[in-house]
Order: sequence, then C-alpha cells, then structure tokens
Amino acid sequence: MIVSMIVAHGPKNEIGLNNQLLWHISEDLKNFKKITTGKTIVMGRKTFESIGKALPNRLNIVLTKDADLKIPGTEVINDPLMAFDVALENNDQDDSELVIIGGAEIYNLYLPYAQKIYLTEVPYVGPADAFFPTLTSSEWKEVESQKFETFNFKILERQS
Ligand SMILES: NC(=O)c1ccc[n+]([C@@H]2O[C@H](COP(=O)([O-])OP(=O)(O)OC[C@H]3O[C@@H](n4cnc5c(N)ncnc54)[C@H](OP(=O)(O)O)[C@@H]3O)[C@@H](O)[C@H]2O)c1
Repeated sequence: MIVSMIVAHGPKNEIGLNNQLLWHISEDLKNFKKITTGKTIVMGRKTFESIGKALPNRLNIVLTKDADLKIPGTEVINDPLMAFDVALENNDQDDSELVIIGGAEIYNLYLPYAQKIYLTEVPYVGPADAFFPTLTSSEWKEVESQKFETFNFKILERQS
C-alpha cells in the first residue's frame, strides 16, 4: 500500500480559513476526484464537516477523538494508525493507495508516513488560518509538473 497526500496550497502553504477552502477551482476539483476515486481517503473531522458528506466511490475515513461519533457512509476512527488497518482491509494489493486529504492537523499527523504528494500550487493572496506543513526540500523530489491557467500541479515523491 502507498500512502499519499493531496493538497492545494498557496505560496505560504495556506490551505483554509474558517473551516473552508480559500478558492474554488473546478479543474482542480476534477483532478482531485480523478486521483482519489476508487481509493481510501482519510480526513480530519473538521474537513469532513466542511465537505458535509461522504465523497462517493471512495472509502471515507474520518479521524476524531470523539469515541461516540458515527457518520453515515464513513469509517470513523479515533487512532490515526487505524487508518492503515482500515485501508488494508479495503484493499490489500501492493499498489493500493491511502490518500490523506487534510486538513492541517491531519497532514501534520500523517506526513511522516507519506511517500507521495499530489500538490496544487495556487497563487493566492489573502488571509488563512490553516496551513500545510513545510516540507524539507531535500526529502522530496518533483517527478511531474503541469502548468494550468490558474494553478500549477506537481507530484512529489519522497527520496528513499
Ligand atoms: N486546500 C486543501 O487542499 C485542503 C484540504 C483539506 C482541508 N483544507 C482546509 O483545512 C482546514 C481544516 O483543517 P484543520 O487542521 O482545522 O482540521 P482537520 O485536520 O480537518 O481536523 C482536525 C480534527 O481531527 C481530529 N484529530 C486530529 N488529531 C487527532 C488525533 N491524534 N486523534 C484523533 N483525532 C484527531 C480532531 O477531531 P475532533 O475535534 O472531532 O476530536 C480535530 O479537531 C479547513 O479550512 C479546510 O477547508 C484544505
């Protein structure tokens, strides 16, 4: 199983404000759907609330400290490491993928396990209260880069 992350961030790693995204880029949302469909995704409880529903055609895992929380259409977990067990139960093929979809707390928690990052760079200028962690550049290699009209899309892989 591969552990990856998908994120869209601004020049200062901005990802959100008031539990919402900072932009609406339909091309990037289409890309998000293409990359995550059929896979297992993990999100924090706050990101789940900002999306408001389980995303279809993917196994949705929601991380919370609330042991009583039940959310239809999702697997709720209280221990971050449980995500790996749940993902493997869903698909134990070597090339299966567990995709961490945010937000800030969840990216920080899972960054040490991530081997790949799907990164959208948005030229955003404005306020934010949630940020993607700063990557150690020597640990990550850009293996793909595409320029779109309003954003850049990159794939980074962890250097072994
Ligand atoms: N631009 C992007 O690509 C992108 C992607 C995703 C999200 N976002 C943005 O990111 C922001 C949300 O990020 P956030 O950091 O505030 O929230 P978050 O990471 O989505 O969720 C945080 C919650 O996760 C749970 N949690 C965290 N650590 C845990 C642990 N060790 N064990 C159990 N549960 C744990 C807690 O839930 P409980 O409080 O229920 O215990 C915590 O409140 C929003 O603005 C959202 O729009 C942006």
